[in-house]
Amino acid sequence: MVLPIVAYGDPVLRKIAEDIGPDYPGLEKLIADMWETMYNSSGVGLAAPQVNRPIRLFVVDTLQMFENMDEEDKADYPDDPGFKETFINAHIVELEGEKWAYNEGCLSIPKIREDVSRPEKVTIEYQDVLFAKHRSSFNGLTARVILHEYDHIDGKLFIDHLSPLKRKLMKGKLTDISKGKVAVDYKMSFPG
Ligand code: NI
Repeated sequence: MVLPIVAYGDPVLRKIAEDIGPDYPGLEKLIADMWETMYNSSGVGLAAPQVNRPIRLFVVDTLQMFENMDEEDKADYPDDPGFKETFINAHIVELEGEKWAYNEGCLSIPKIREDVSRPEKVTIEYQDVLFAKHRSSFNGLTARVILHEYDHIDGKLFIDHLSPLKRKLMKGKLTDISKGKVAVDYKMSFPG
């Protein structure tokens, strides 16, 4: 089932999300719905707060990103084969490498894209759908998408990484989004 994506301005996007256990009600269905919702809106990642659940859960699929990329662009990410995973109870262990800029967007903030600087490499501890523990490192676009989704479970948004001036300039657009004054081709829920 496709779930409505919570728009900018909703307080759930600003909560620091909580760890969950395997007994979290309806977890299997929620994860299936999150994948369906993400693909339905052509996203490469989706975090639970974006579907109104303040829990440490997000899904990422950068494999499809690489499938749709030409060989020349792929060559920019030699140490990133792409990755598809459900991340539960994720916690960052280490950030490494030089920061690099990439034009990011967010399903909760439609029609706004800005360059965001993030570190090259992330080492993260998380549990998969079977609650098996992992400690893994990611580079390139996969690291970037993971860091974007990880921000969501810590109550942060990509616009928080921009300069105060840039944020000031987009204030009107953000207010419009929070009031539902934006055209999107996927289901959203607006706080106002
Ligand atoms: Ni986002």
